[in-house]
Amino acid sequence: MRLEHICRAFGIEGTFVEGGAFGNGLINDTFAASFEHDGNQRRYIIQRINHRIFRDPVALMENVDRVCAHLRTRLIDEPCADLHRRSLTLVRTHEGQALHCEPANAKQPEPTYWRCFHFIEGCTSYDVVDTPDQAYQAARKFGEFQRLVSDLPGSRLIETIPDFHNTPKRFAALKEAIAADPLGRAAQCREEIEFALANESIAHHLLGLHAQDLIPERITHNDTKLSNVLIDDQSGLGMCVVDLDTVMPGLSLYDFGDLIRTCVSPIEEDSRDLASIQVRLPIFQALACGFLEEMAGVLTPTEIANLSFSGKLLTFEVGLRFLADHLLGDQYFTAKRPNHNLHRARNQFQLVRELNSHENEMNDFVQNFITNKMA
Ligand SMILES: Nc1ncnc2c1ncn2[C@@H]1O[C@H](COP(=O)(O)OP(=O)(O)O)[C@@H](O)[C@H]1O
Ligand SMILES: [Mg+2]
Repeated sequence: MRLEHICRAFGIEGTFVEGGAFGNGLINDTFAASFEHDGNQRRYIIQRINHRIFRDPVALMENVDRVCAHLRTRLIDEPCADLHRRSLTLVRTHEGQALHCEPANAKQPEPTYWRCFHFIEGCTSYDVVDTPDQAYQAARKFGEFQRLVSDLPGSRLIETIPDFHNTPKRFAALKEAIAADPLGRAAQCREEIEFALANESIAHHLLGLHAQDLIPERITHNDTKLSNVLIDDQSGLGMCVVDLDTVMPGLSLYDFGDLIRTCVSPIEEDSRDLASIQVRLPIFQALACGFLEEMAGVLTPTEIANLSFSGKLLTFEVGLRFLADHLLGDQYFTAKRPNHNLHRARNQFQLVRELNSHENEMNDFVQNFITNKMA
């Protein structure tokens, strides 16, 4: 069986028990497989890297390998209980590599790239934020992740997707899409285009502060969704951050902003029910508490002052991307219904408006939290 064959490349021994597709990840193809060896059953996560999105799987795995090793070292220093469940552990190939390449064959015209992790048992990852505690656990884990990798030694990590959060470039790309308008779709989205153009200043704000040395470059996760945190089934505590493909140099606020974007609204990002889009303040507060619990001592005053703003920036950025993709014919984000990406853009821009109208309340909460913590 093919999955078993891949596992053998990673030196996994014993009898293959079962295996198949696993989880709800959207980017890579994820599988789980169990083996029995010397009377013990062990599970593994095996992933085929999406190399259309990640063009350089070798460099990507160098990042992942360095980050996993450093997290382990830092967790040992802390010290912490349950070490093997607190960070991902790579399984290496016979040659000691973190990546296995399957050459092209008659059925598979291109090579495929694989990696393997020990399965972290007794946890669940959730897709939808229902309670403030889930938001707290996720934000705390992503905050801890940033804190622990902040002193990663060696050269700068590789940018696995260059300019991923370069919002001014995303804005420029939208302007090009509007000018090109290859499918004549611009006429039906005048309102969204006007909203985007009128709010250009949002796109430049954080990189402007970075250029003034008020916000430093850090190592960030860049995909801070609830589903990328494993939550312990017994205790309900955040256990481990997964999905390290986009770990690269970035701004801390990109991670916090994407937590806000993906957690505070009660409805999905492609819902057309715009009236239901709102900022759930208790969820925002839980995110801020969790993140600051870990990062308050690390962040600069300018980063702290922009925590609330960051949600607006990330939501605006994703809205720009959806709108540009709609204009260009849905090349990046799969459209499952007519105008799907336009609906996604509308949803995100509505959330930008909502975040804007609650920004003062969110800022007050952050300032009070910091004042109390320092007292
Ligand atoms: N080592 C692991 N142990 C247990 N579950 C895992 C592990 N790694 C990933 N998962 C699960 O698989 C899902 C998909 O993996 P992920 O790396 O997030 O892929 P994608 O990039 O496609 O989102 C995760 O949401 C998580 O539920
Ligand atoms: Mg994921």
